[in-house]
Amino acid sequence: MSGIYIHIPFCSQKCNYCDFYSIVPLARKAEFVKALIKEIILRKDYLSGEIVDTIYFGGGTPSVLSVSELSNIIEALAANFQHSKDLEMTFEANPEDLSISYLKEIKKLGINRLSIGVQSFRDSDLLFMKRTHNSLEALNSVLRATESGFENISIDLIYGLPNLSLNDWELNLKQAFQLPIKHLSSYHLTYEKQTLLYKQLLQKKFTPSTEDSSIAQFELLMDYTQQNNLPYYEISNFSIEGYYSKHNLSYWQQKKYLGLGPSAHSYNGRTREWNVSNLLKYLEGIKTRNRVFEKEILSPIDIENEFLITNLRTKWGIDLISYSEKFGALNKQKIIKDVESFVNQELVIYQQNTIKFSRKGILLSDFILEKLFRL
Ligand SMILES: C[S@@+](CC[C@H](N)C(=O)[O-])C[C@H]1O[C@@H](n2cnc3c(N)ncnc32)[C@H](O)[C@@H]1O
Ligand code: SF4
Repeated sequence: MSGIYIHIPFCSQKCNYCDFYSIVPLARKAEFVKALIKEIILRKDYLSGEIVDTIYFGGGTPSVLSVSELSNIIEALAANFQHSKDLEMTFEANPEDLSISYLKEIKKLGINRLSIGVQSFRDSDLLFMKRTHNSLEALNSVLRATESGFENISIDLIYGLPNLSLNDWELNLKQAFQLPIKHLSSYHLTYEKQTLLYKQLLQKKFTPSTEDSSIAQFELLMDYTQQNNLPYYEISNFSIEGYYSKHNLSYWQQKKYLGLGPSAHSYNGRTREWNVSNLLKYLEGIKTRNRVFEKEILSPIDIENEFLITNLRTKWGIDLISYSEKFGALNKQKIIKDVESFVNQELVIYQQNTIKFSRKGILLSDFILEKLFRL
């Protein structure tokens, strides 16, 4: 069981908050697709012996690809990797790219899960974020996806935005749940150093949301998702039972994955490596069969920390039996002792051989995880 992540490093416009690697000119798109197909062939042994359960097109903006470019990539993947019969193939898309004809064509190629970057149903938020779509386009894109036969649809929404009142956020959530979605990814806005948003923050061009307002919005998110049958299963992810993102689950379950394209990460249980975050260097490296990447050998402590973080962020928490099998009975005892004070403060629940966050604990998850970190 393994996954493949493909990073498409192009966007038609850069959003002010985003520091994912992508560039705006599309001039080298065709050249990139050729290089990507070459990388698929060059690295086909990374998952040798493994069946691929999930393929995830992320970015950047995968929906800038033409149907034929996408078709060539998917064909190369099928020719070089063994796919599972119930492969989940997710495609991140921006609303304005999703015409009925495009949707129908990509569905024929085997894409069976869409992650649509709605971000907000309020035009003022979308303008502030420098998105290229408006709220009506966001709404219609979800309806068109359903009409084109997509059943497994996720949308992304951002909260904690400046000028987003609790009432506005509630309207956003209400709108989301009127749509035929099976999954929601919702992130609090983060201020990343290399972004325009960060610069605007330093220049005091807007007033950031307060901590109290962020907490209230997160609480509302938890309530609304629960009431609408898409309860929390990971801190930023909510879904109808059975519609969890299999791809994200595999990251959290430490399964192997291969990352293709600039900036994409790969993991094989012992090492993590990541391609260069620069299209020209990526193209040159693939052309000369001298791929530009960095690699980290994970220490046993790194592996334990990753297990801790990823499992605790989910609703299932840490299963102490598998913890003991993986990291030894002594480490299991240590983690039980380390969470004791959080259990007493009702931030962590320890019962039936599992440790997980309480609802109150989810709000303080970063703080708690830092304290549990192995050094
Ligand atoms: C990198 S984008 C790629 C998908 C697609 N291009 C889009 O914009 O929807 C994936 C998601 O990350 C989230 N994201 C990126 N940067 C963020 C930030 N600074 N704060 C909160 N969410 C962010 C957005 O919700 C976005 O939908
Ligand atoms: S959020 Fe999506 S569309 Fe916006 S810059 Fe990032 S990758 Fe591109």
